[in-house]
Order: sequence, then C-alpha cells, then structure tokens
Amino acid sequence: MKILEVKNLGFTYENYEKPVLNGVSFSLQAGEVLGISGSNGSGKTTLCYCLCGIIPHCLSGKMDGKVFIKGTDSGQVSLHQLTSDVGIVLQDPGIQILMPTVEDEIAFGLENQRVPREKMKEIVNETLDLVGITPLRGENPNNLSGGQKQLAALASVLALNPSLLIFDESLSMLDEMASQRILFVMKKLKDRGKTLVIVDHTSRGRGLYDKIFLLGRAKLTGTNKMTKENEITLSPG
Ligand SMILES: Nc1ncnc2c1ncn2[C@@H]1O[C@H](COP(=O)(O)OP(=O)(O)O)[C@@H](O)[C@H]1O
Ligand SMILES: [Mg+2]
Repeated sequence: MKILEVKNLGFTYENYEKPVLNGVSFSLQAGEVLGISGSNGSGKTTLCYCLCGIIPHCLSGKMDGKVFIKGTDSGQVSLHQLTSDVGIVLQDPGIQILMPTVEDEIAFGLENQRVPREKMKEIVNETLDLVGITPLRGENPNNLSGGQKQLAALASVLALNPSLLIFDESLSMLDEMASQRILFVMKKLKDRGKTLVIVDHTSRGRGLYDKIFLLGRAKLTGTNKMTKENEITLSPG
C-alpha cells in the first residue's frame, strides 16, 4: 500500500523568488524507511513540512505539485484530519510541546481525538514505556534536556499511532544515549510496519533506511533516480 506519494512538489516561501524545493517526486510504500540527507539550507525541513501538511496549512508561500498521504491530497483536508495518518517530530521539539507535564502532553492529541479515558491511560502508559520515559511522566517538559524533550515530543506523536512518521534531525542534536533510544524506537516502528522519513545528516540511522534522498544545495529537480546503493539522488538543476 502506498502511504506517501509526492508528485512534482515545489515550494517558494512568501516574498522570496527562488524555490526551496522544485520538481520533487517520490513515493513510499507501507513499512519503507526513507533517509533524507543534505547540507544546511538545502530544504530538508521545508520538505518535512510539506510531507506532514504544515505546508500548505500553516506556512505561507507558493506550493506546486501534490502530496498524497494514504491517497488523500494533503491540501484538501484539514491539518487536524491529517494528524491520525502522519506525525512529525520537529527539529526544535520545544515548539510542539504545549502541556504542563509529559503525560498530559501525550494525552493531549488523544483527547482531541476523543479517545475514551481508560483507553487513553492505557495508550499513555504503553507509549511512555516504548519511548523509555516512564520516570519523566510527571515532569514539566520545559525543564527537560534537549534529548528528553525530543523523546517527549516523539511519545506525543506516537500515541496517535500514525502510519507515517517524520523525524526532522531527531538524531542530530542528541547525546549518544538519547539517540540510541530514538534509534531503538525507530527500529521497533519499522518492525511494526510504519513508514518513516528520517532527516539525518549524521548517518546514525543509516542501517534502517531502504532509500536515501539527497537534497542538493542548489535548486532541485526531482529525478527519483536510484543508484546502486538504492539511493534516490536529486541532482542540482
Ligand atoms: N519561514 C521561512 N521563510 C523564508 N525562508 C525560509 C523559511 N524557512 C526556511 N527558509 C529558507 O529556505 C531554505 C531551506 O531551509 P530549510 O528547509 O530549513 O533547510 P534545512 O532544513 O535543509 O537546513 C533556506 O534558505 C532557508 O533560509
Ligand atoms: Mg532543517
């Protein structure tokens, strides 16, 4: 089953002339893991925003092409509707954490989805356990270290059980222990058949990838070209 399909995607931020993304096309089947690598400013985060619906729903600019998540055009449904199918752990997870405790944060999305209270408790406990942060459940997320915040953000996304998970540099800014924990969770998700997009310029996650997408520094043309190593290479246009 095709979970993600990107067709001729382009994006130019409002009041800018040059596109950050141009002609990007690829698709991912259920259970596939895509690694995205590329230099600073090459458009990795912008691509992640397009893949989860933040673009076009929350950021202004000109989007070309289409992103289909489980067959649904991301521009045609609300961001809220997309959250049950796609979750993102942002490069700066502090932005996405809103609640006073870690467990409230994990429960927040479930409350929005009107999950019954008992079921919610069960999911919160399971997710805390999976991510390895049960001892942090009562902590204020603002007081956590960068790595712990990353794990809390990941837990709040996982609780919603999306088919597609996007990690924007989740492995880059962490100490060895936290990044090993995130890698462990990614591996579990892969085993469970989730589709993952992992932005990573450290190569820490390399063992998990089925494909790698290299974003060039210059304007991009999507070629969806597979190399010997099963890499998708975007050549500068
Ligand atoms: N909100 C924004 N408004 C205007 N330009 C932006 C915005 N966010 C990112 N950019 C620009 O888009 C380009 C790609 O940024 P980004 O997607 O963050 O790259 P990466 O994640 O690969 O470092 C950069 O030139 C950056 O300055
Ligand atoms: Mg980035």
